[in-house]
Amino acid sequence: MTLELRHVSFSYHGGTTGKAAPVLVDLCFQMHISDAVGIVGPSGAGKSTFLQVLAGLEKPGEGVVLFEGKDVHRDRSAYERLRRQLGIVFQFPENQLFEATVAEDVAFGPRNQGLSHETVRTRVRTALSAVGLPPDVFLGRGIEQLSQGEKRRVAIAGVLAMEPQILLLDEPTAGLDPGGQRTFVTFLRDYHRRQKRGLVIASHDLDFLVQVVDRIYVMDAGRWKANVPLQQIETLPADSLPIRLPRVVRLRQRLAELGIRLPTHVFHPQAFLHALEQIPKL
Ligand SMILES: Nc1ncnc2c1ncn2[C@@H]1O[C@H](COP(=O)(O)OP(=O)(O)O)[C@@H](O)[C@H]1O
Ligand SMILES: [Mg+2]
Repeated sequence: MTLELRHVSFSYHGGTTGKAAPVLVDLCFQMHISDAVGIVGPSGAGKSTFLQVLAGLEKPGEGVVLFEGKDVHRDRSAYERLRRQLGIVFQFPENQLFEATVAEDVAFGPRNQGLSHETVRTRVRTALSAVGLPPDVFLGRGIEQLSQGEKRRVAIAGVLAMEPQILLLDEPTAGLDPGGQRTFVTFLRDYHRRQKRGLVIASHDLDFLVQVVDRIYVMDAGRWKANVPLQQIETLPADSLPIRLPRVVRLRQRLAELGIRLPTHVFHPQAFLHALEQIPKL
């Protein structure tokens, strides 16, 4: 099952013939629905727009969005299959909350999927834990009592609880403190590697992305600047990219200059530290 963009251009006002400059420019993209990919780039690059087009929520002025080879803006049933399999968390997901309590809000999606009471309960608890909100503390809370960051995490949990086959996340670390981020990384890795679900994560935070995804796309001004599997991230021409390489990669390169070689498949800070500790003292 593939999700694909073919030569997509998109502008916000008046389509590609309008006055506004296109936000996405002749963009091609292809993934299997269980791949994990990261979209990185500076603010304004077009990452959020890309996710909305990929989700079928915005229609490109030119080009097509294909799900299982079918144009989702021409084939209604392909569009509906995509919408059923896909969950999207927007950049400001706190605007998506509309129930009175945390429990009701997170349960809304799975309940609509017709799941049993028991399954909904389990899903809600799992999803809240994944975003670092202990269910016993937060289930009974009113949405109005939450901080901005907590609201954001509740909104993410609401989408996680539906367990979509493919999960699109827009700047998901914005509301997370470092502890919450570690919990979330662990959850996402498990969601992809063990449960074989797909992830498309747009973020300016490459240090976060490399801990979760298997492939990185670099976007700048609505175009791809690069597209590499994680193992080849060191081959990116850092000087010509609009972003810095991840900290672990820069550290590894610096250590290599000093004659200390670390395995290139290590991206998680904890694993990186472990690899460093394995090196005999000089
Ligand atoms: N709803 C909108 N209407 C008009 N312009 C928009 C809208 N959303 C985004 N843009 C513009 O599109 C460009 C890309 O924005 P966006 O996709 O949000 O980039 P990113 O997520 O990488 O920061 C920016 O120039 C932004 O100002
Ligand atoms: Mg954005």
